[in-house]
Formats: sequence, structure tokens, C-alpha cells
Amino acid sequence: MAALAAAPTHRRLVRRHIYSARVSAPDSSVTIIGASGALGFGLALRLAGAGVAVTIGSRDVGRADEAAARALVAVPDGRVVGMENAAAAAASELVVLSVPFRSHHETLTHIAEAMRDGQLLIDATVPLAAAVGGKPTRMLGVWQGSAAEQAQELVPDGVSVVAALHTVSAAALGDHHHPLDEDVLLVGDKRADKARVAALLERIDGLRCVDAGRLEMARITESLTALLIAVNIRHKAHAGIRLTGLPDTLW
Ligand SMILES: NC(=O)c1ccc[n+]([C@@H]2O[C@H](COP(=O)([O-])OP(=O)(O)OC[C@H]3O[C@@H](n4cnc5c(N)ncnc54)[C@H](OP(=O)(O)O)[C@@H]3O)[C@@H](O)[C@H]2O)c1
Repeated sequence: MAALAAAPTHRRLVRRHIYSARVSAPDSSVTIIGASGALGFGLALRLAGAGVAVTIGSRDVGRADEAAARALVAVPDGRVVGMENAAAAAASELVVLSVPFRSHHETLTHIAEAMRDGQLLIDATVPLAAAVGGKPTRMLGVWQGSAAEQAQELVPDGVSVVAALHTVSAAALGDHHHPLDEDVLLVGDKRADKARVAALLERIDGLRCVDAGRLEMARITESLTALLIAVNIRHKAHAGIRLTGLPDTLW
């Protein structure tokens, strides 16, 4: 793992990986629960800019509509709508969850009732100690091992969880003219699910997705957020990560 570097060789490598994930029919729509907030909104901008239809989920439909309107100002030809969380969770086959850990359990319990067999939850939530008033550079212990494993316990049978995006800065995503050049670690129990998520996220220019193992590895990938926060505080940056030595074709 290396801190984000903007070396030209990396840029060439990333370009070769755009659209590289092999899936039969890449998803063209996604729901993002919590996209009125920093990470989800940045992701909504980037995906909408890449031609993906985005449904923004919020606890409050007015806040969802307002976030969708804001996204459309930034990406005028994007397709973005707002909905209350449960309706939003039912609206797409791929559902990103991007909420503070203190509301993770409650949000999942709420949206689980609207979810169905075959859907895929992409969990970006990180159990930072900041969620309960502690330091953002420390992690909370989660009985299941990670937020993502807690999510897998709470979604209905037939809904898979892939944990992703923990090392991608909301500020970097949200500045949607800023070029990205970094890796996204995907962890989950099924390779096909991770390939599907990679096909979605690699539509964002400059993101390369790497299969980083089973869902139990989420306890490590989630804790990388705390590490990067410590790095960012010291260097006043929005660092991401880059794995070296990987083959050109990852999916
Ligand atoms: N920020 C980053 O750079 C970054 C990077 C990697 C991972 N993450 C992780 O991704 C998740 C989202 O991060 P974020 O920075 O986007 O969070 P955020 O802006 O604080 O919150 C995201 C959204 O979560 C919803 N929410 C639900 N329950 C909430 C509650 N009790 N208090 C506050 N908001 C609540 C809110 O949407 P509504 O009010 O519209 O429902 C809010 O806009 C977190 O788990 C974080 O650790 C963040």
C-alpha cells in the first residue's frame, strides 16, 4: 500500500482499467443511502457524471430532493432523483450505504424491509470512534467484526454485501473536476458480486477496483479510513491508496 501519488505511470495504468470489470450486463442505475452527506454526495456526482442513473436516499424526502437538485446543478445532464430511504433502497439492484456508524443499524433495519433477493448492498460505512464522540483516528469494536459484517446480518437472505470505498475521500470525490488516481478495495464473499461493483465504480475515471478478499477482511479495509484520517491530518491532504505490483487485468 502506498499513499496516493500522481505519477504519470499510474495514470496510464488506471486508464487501462477503466471499464475493465467483466460482468454480463453492467448496472446503469444505483441508489445511494446517505447521499445528502459528504461521501454519498460525491459518489452521486461522479456516477451521475459517468452516465449512471442515481437515486439519492435520505431519512427525509425533502432533503433527498434538495440533494438531487444540487447534484443536477453540478451535473446538468445527469439523471438524479431523491427518495425516502426505504423507497430508494427498493429502486435499484445496487444500493450503496453511506451513513455514520451510529445510524448504521437503524438505517439497515429500516431499509431491509424494502430490500429483496438478488440485490447487492455496497457498504461504505466505517465504525469510527467519532461516531460516539471519540477520535476519528480510532475504531470501535463491532461484535460481528466490521460494519459490513453487521450489515450482512441485517439484510434479508439473498442480499449480498460488498464493502467498498473506505479509502476514497469524500472531498476528492465531491470536487468532481479533480482527477482521481487511486484504488478501491472491494471485499465480499462472492467474486461475481465484487466484479459487479467494480463494473459500476470503474465507470468513475481514475478509480481502479481491487478484489481484497472475503467480507471478513472488511475489519481491515474499514480501519484504513482511520489510518488515512491520521495521514490527512498530518499532511493536510485527501490521500487515497494505491497497491503496486498487480497485473494489468484484475477482473
Ligand atoms: N467522508 C469521507 O471522506 C469518508 C470516506 C470513507 C468512508 N466514509 C464513511 O462513509 C460514511 C458516510 O460518511 P459521510 O462523511 O458522508 O457522513 P455524513 O455526511 O456525516 O452523513 C451521511 C448521511 O447519513 C445520513 N444519516 C443517517 N443517520 C444519521 C445520523 N444519526 N446522523 C447524521 N447523519 C445521518 C444523513 O442523511 P439524511 O439526513 O439525509 O438521512 C447524512 O447526510 C461514514 O460511515 C464514514 O465513516 C467517509
